[in-house]
Amino acid sequence: MLKTESLKTEHSLARSARHLYIHIPFCLQICPYCSFYKDIAGPGKADPLVDAVIREAELFGGNCAPETVFIGGGTPTALSVSQLERLFHGMRRSLDFSGTSEFTIEMNPATVTARKADLLRTFGVNRVSMGVQSWDPELLKVLGRVHDADQVRKSFSILRAAGYDNLNLDLIYGVPGQTLAQWEDSLQQTIALQPDHISAYCLTYEEDTEYFERLQRGEFRENTEQDAGFFECGVELLSAAGYAQYEISNYARPGRACRHNIAYWEGADYLGLGPSAWSTTGDRRWQNVPDTAAYVRAMQAGIRPIATEEILPAETREAEKIAFGLRMNAGIDPSTLARRRDLVTSLREEGLLEDHGPRVRLTARGRLLADEIAAELI
Ligand SMILES: C[S@@+](CC[C@H](N)C(=O)[O-])C[C@H]1O[C@@H](n2cnc3c(N)ncnc32)[C@H](O)[C@@H]1O
Ligand code: SF4
Repeated sequence: MLKTESLKTEHSLARSARHLYIHIPFCLQICPYCSFYKDIAGPGKADPLVDAVIREAELFGGNCAPETVFIGGGTPTALSVSQLERLFHGMRRSLDFSGTSEFTIEMNPATVTARKADLLRTFGVNRVSMGVQSWDPELLKVLGRVHDADQVRKSFSILRAAGYDNLNLDLIYGVPGQTLAQWEDSLQQTIALQPDHISAYCLTYEEDTEYFERLQRGEFRENTEQDAGFFECGVELLSAAGYAQYEISNYARPGRACRHNIAYWEGADYLGLGPSAWSTTGDRRWQNVPDTAAYVRAMQAGIRPIATEEILPAETREAEKIAFGLRMNAGIDPSTLARRRDLVTSLREEGLLEDHGPRVRLTARGRLLADEIAAELI
């Protein structure tokens, strides 16, 4: 009886989520800076994972009808055409994509083919996010990337030819040894392709990555002053090219800001499927086990594949809304900061916070210190 009740609650929580994330962990090659949960694609690994995600959607997806879907990774397109086809057919049996207006999938340029691009369009995917990181051959090597610049151009034109009119390209700055000229060149070559959206991330040294270990050994050094110069260069070149910055690392042509990510930053509920995926609905947050084999085993047994779960105090969700909200150029409702008046006053005096219509937001200088300011406000 109790079991049925708790399953019912889980179903209604999942059903209420309007935003769905699906994690496919496989990659052709592991990049030494990346801390996402990932696994080398290999024989016999992908089919059980596809079955497991379909099963999770069926058992714990609550017949969710998402407005936005983001299939990320890893590299979802490391799956074969037939695996992708099976995944979509399977998910459609228990999830309702009829009202999904934004449907994104992540790709690595080395995994793009016309057949995959066409197939995904027929299943309703209408946005692709592709990792470019850099156009410089030396930096691509430093980043351990599996593709070259030519491959990016080819993959981009395959996607356009398949009819995708909402394409994002990811770039990284602050790469060891990178010069400002190399960064400017990467920005210009990206702009020349005329994508609809550009994400420009500052390299972070994440624990459990090869880059982090090299930083610890003194082989790499962080340079926040240089990073600030790269950031300002990005804002300047991208805005001059018609890409409005709407979040610290994200720039879009009019109408092309990523609705899925905005919902997440605004604190909306979301459901995550797949190994390592996080979900937050109401006051509950949980993470699926970040281990493909354990995830597959749990789904074969029909049990929830959860690694951690917590009840979120209202203050935590409010604090997160502030931290993420301040990363967006639209800013936040000032009433959210009512309990932090002194700090708000001093940030204003230091020129780090400003009014933006009825909202408050970080100034251009404040955005350079966003993480520190969010930590203080929280
Ligand atoms: C899941 S990957 C993108 C898709 C695909 N796997 C690829 O790499 O082409 C998501 C993005 O996160 C960014 N990223 C990953 N690790 C990062 C790090 N340590 N610092 C900054 N950005 C990072 C990269 O720009 C990457 O494209
Ligand atoms: S950046 Fe992309 S391709 Fe590289 S390891 Fe991470 S998820 Fe895989």
